[in-house]
Amino acid sequence: MHINNVEFAGAIANLNGKAPGSHPQVAFSGRSNVGKSSLVNRLLGRTRTAVARVSSTPGKTREINFFDVKATTSTGEAARFYVVDLPGYGYAKVPVGVRVEWQKVIEWYLGSTKELKGVVQLIDARIDPVTADRQMVEYLEQAALPALFVLTKVDKLTRSERAAQVRKVIASLGIHPDQTIEFSSKTGEGRDQLLESIESLITT
Ligand code: GTP
Ligand code: MG
Repeated sequence: MHINNVEFAGAIANLNGKAPGSHPQVAFSGRSNVGKSSLVNRLLGRTRTAVARVSSTPGKTREINFFDVKATTSTGEAARFYVVDLPGYGYAKVPVGVRVEWQKVIEWYLGSTKELKGVVQLIDARIDPVTADRQMVEYLEQAALPALFVLTKVDKLTRSERAAQVRKVIASLGIHPDQTIEFSSKTGEGRDQLLESIESLITT
């Protein structure tokens, strides 16, 4: 799939919010600071002029942000969909009340969006998954949502660290290696594979 154009299309900040339009949606979820906004920018080819805000302080993405994407599929057809950047969960410095509120918004969104074609779940490749990651994996399974798992920041690991850590994360989450993509927003590794997987989510 080739990305032709990307525009910020709006945000939802509470349970009364609505998507900006009726195109299919692919949501991106993960812990705060996992590299979600960086991945969205890299994936959409917006590394020079970012569409998604990348944080120096974690917990930056507080709304559900929609990016309107126009693309061409591998078979040459025009495709249009929303990339949906969900708030990062589990950031300790955010007050408990706010965290609970975000969690509610995320679950409401995932549970009630008919146009949602799948979820790209990000896991930091360097860190062993936490309870909140496991809960997300369970939630996605139980909700029968098509899911891809992206291991982020792989450029920060040496070759030998990486092989061991990837195996560990996959085992710890009980996910399938075929559903897993190793990704780096810094080098662009994994981008083509992720675009291909997203194409099959939105076209099936
Ligand atoms: P919040 O929205 O604050 O929850 O964070 P986020 O998940 O959107 O993460 P963001 O993309 O803002 O990145 C967090 C930090 O990790 C930033 O300092 C990024 O530069 C860095 N980072 C993100 N992806 C990568 C990567 O693939 N490689 C390296 N080396 N650093 C990365
Ligand atoms: Mg972010």
